[in-house]
Amino acid sequence: MTALETELEGRCGGELLESCMPVLETERLVLRVPRFEDVPSVVAIANDRRIAEMTANLPHPYAAKDAENWIANAWTSQDHPFLITLKTNGALVGATGFVMPDFGDPEIGYWLGTAHWGRGYATEAARAVVDHLFTDRGADAVAARARVVNPASRRVIEKCGFQWVGAGLTRSRLLASSVPVDKFRLDRTLWASLKAWRDPILRRSAPKVVIGSLV
Ligand SMILES: CC(C)(COP(=O)(O)OP(=O)(O)OC[C@H]1O[C@@H](n2cnc3c(N)ncnc32)[C@H](O)[C@@H]1OP(=O)(O)O)[C@@H](O)C(=O)NCCC(=O)NCCS
Repeated sequence: MTALETELEGRCGGELLESCMPVLETERLVLRVPRFEDVPSVVAIANDRRIAEMTANLPHPYAAKDAENWIANAWTSQDHPFLITLKTNGALVGATGFVMPDFGDPEIGYWLGTAHWGRGYATEAARAVVDHLFTDRGADAVAARARVVNPASRRVIEKCGFQWVGAGLTRSRLLASSVPVDKFRLDRTLWASLKAWRDPILRRSAPKVVIGSLV
């Protein structure tokens, strides 16, 4: 255990670190907090310009140090990231999560390794995080945004039930400039309506929150 992990375990009241963080399960995925032993797997799929250019903060090139910093921040900051892994074999396919700003709605984000695009994993993972925010964290609304040149992400957001609320600019780390984005919001009332419709897709991806038992 690293010094950071030891310190953080103390903050969690002596419980194992993992017991402080939820594990979200969907039909095909397990979403869990990243650990330092995940660094090589994260680097292997995150080091891709096609991912970095659509995200605000993913470094490119992406080195082991970047993964270590990201994982360290996962335990210490307002960010709440999850690794997206396959339920069948635990393989890493991407990452998702949310930020909890001091003011405003929590905002979700996600990226997948390119080999895993087009299989519905991002939508399944994003819905799990949205359900977690409303069910376990008492959010009144959830925010999302996507670059205007990112139709795949926009589609994921729409499939989760988000509504377009406006346009804006977001700083792109890769491009070192501001880029146009569409902004979206899903409030609790609409989310509850969608769940009540018993849409088989929404229900299928509803997460099972497991506290303290990482798989
Ligand atoms: C965005 C991203 C996470 C999507 O992952 P994914 O697992 O392929 O997403 P899903 O399969 O759940 O859904 C993608 C949807 O977009 C659609 N789509 C994909 N490319 C598209 C395109 N060029 N134009 C229009 N729609 C497109 C797919 O058809 C699918 O919709 P459908 O289910 O109605 O057919 C993935 O492409 C990625 O990691 N991109 C780089 C990082 C990123 O953009 N992160 C989001 C930042 S806001």
